Amino acid sequence: MDFQAIATAPADWTGDGLVLGFFEEDFAEAGTLPEQLTALDGKLDGAIADLLTEAKFAGKANSGASTRVGRNTPVKKLILVGLGKSEKAKSESIRQAAAKAGKLAKSEKCSTLGVALPTVGDAGQTVQAIVEGMSLALYKDERFKSKSDDDKDEDNAEYPATVSLLEADGQADAIAKAEQILSGVVLARKLVAAPPNELSPQTLADTAKDIADSHGLELTVLEQDECEKRGMGAFLGVAKASATDAPPKFIHLTYKPEGTAKKKIAIVGKGVTFDSGGLNLKGPGSGIETMKMDMGGAAATLGAAKALAQLKPDVELHFISAATENMISGHALHPGDILTASNGKTIEVNNTDAEGRLTLADALVYADALGVDAIVDLATLTGACLIALGNDIAGYWSIDDDLAADLKTASESSGEKIWQMPLEQKYFEGIKSPIADMKNTGPRPAGSITAALFLKEFVKDTEAWAHIDIAGPAWTSKEGPYTPAGASGYGVRLLVDWVTAS
Ligand code: BES
Ligand code: MN
Ligand code: ZN
Repeated sequence: MDFQAIATAPADWTGDGLVLGFFEEDFAEAGTLPEQLTALDGKLDGAIADLLTEAKFAGKANSGASTRVGRNTPVKKLILVGLGKSEKAKSESIRQAAAKAGKLAKSEKCSTLGVALPTVGDAGQTVQAIVEGMSLALYKDERFKSKSDDDKDEDNAEYPATVSLLEADGQADAIAKAEQILSGVVLARKLVAAPPNELSPQTLADTAKDIADSHGLELTVLEQDECEKRGMGAFLGVAKASATDAPPKFIHLTYKPEGTAKKKIAIVGKGVTFDSGGLNLKGPGSGIETMKMDMGGAAATLGAAKALAQLKPDVELHFISAATENMISGHALHPGDILTASNGKTIEVNNTDAEGRLTLADALVYADALGVDAIVDLATLTGACLIALGNDIAGYWSIDDDLAADLKTASESSGEKIWQMPLEQKYFEGIKSPIADMKNTGPRPAGSITAALFLKEFVKDTEAWAHIDIAGPAWTSKEGPYTPAGASGYGVRLLVDWVTAS
């Protein structure tokens, strides 16, 4: 799909499908033609008026309608999408309307598409949101099918192939920006969707190498022996059970801006490429068959690295993941084992299924030693967070109010929802161990809070740290407005907006 920004107005554009977007207040009552559309309606043989009446289209959010216009009309199909009330409209309204338009254009087999949506925010933000929403909605992952669905059709053309953003001349940069961000989101989706027999810690390291090579980043991959030398006992404890052909990899990508960096930031992602639970093996109903998604944090981290390496912010960036599987074998952690992390803290492993925090412990100690201004980690950490906030919203915890506010702002602009949760220190009682410095799990209540409190023990010198639990949104059972069922690529757009605003 190719996007172009052109000056042409909807009434003058010729092609297969024309998309028009409306607010609710464009309609005095359902089925009436807004005045500014009467001229265009004349050119389109009255199709707009007919469609409004037939579909009872009134500009409501997430509504859409499409129809054939005529043979000799300047456009063959007309697609209407609603944006809801204008005072409530956000970039997210544009993203969702563009997604709907893209899906309708595909089913109407429009090869060339003209898109005219009202401006929300500024023209650049609107164009960026259109490109994001439409591209993400039409994304399809057919890597693991022997035959693509389109090939099964007689006609395997792409619909739409060319998308012209109307009355948007001068917005080529916004298209380019959206495409750079999308390359990161698509990477994250592909990594999360890849099955665990195809994606190992080595694959994540190879992906980091590709990003480093194609965008000029520095890459360090610490092998198992190097991790041992650094005393990363928590991370390596989890990795112990894996076969020798699936060893752990500690991945660290660095981006340095050309001038002086305004800030230094570390982004840490949980990279468990398959979570069996370990000897506390996941049981029926635990979703073990979806636990390839347990590297969703690493996927978001690498996706953000790919996007940001192209966007080139004036910020030094460190992308880190301690990648491993969580398996069972004769070498597996015993429930009850005591591990020593790289900051010297000892952990009684009372549940081998709480492995993410063990891997993150050493990753956070490493990030903390870099002398950065802020650390943000993303992790598919707890089922409890998924239960609390569902598939649409990530939970987050922060030791710094400004960082918490900045993440909230990035959440609003990106449309990736987050909700702040308390770092209730009193609950640390629940993870005190009689024999070691702490246990890796506490009681069931507030399970995602004790997980966050556990992680906090591994951040000492960095003033701003936030933990984002993406167990819900990284993998969704249902298709969303512009996310497929399964891997969403959640986190890349949130991180990009946060870093570029820093
Ligand atoms: N990877 C899981 C968390 C998870 C669960 C992510 C469901 C996505 C969907 C994590 O490693 C885990 O197993 N957590 C345990 C912690 C418990 C043992 C304290 C959980 O949530 O049950
Ligand atoms: Mn687990
Ligand atoms: Zn896990």
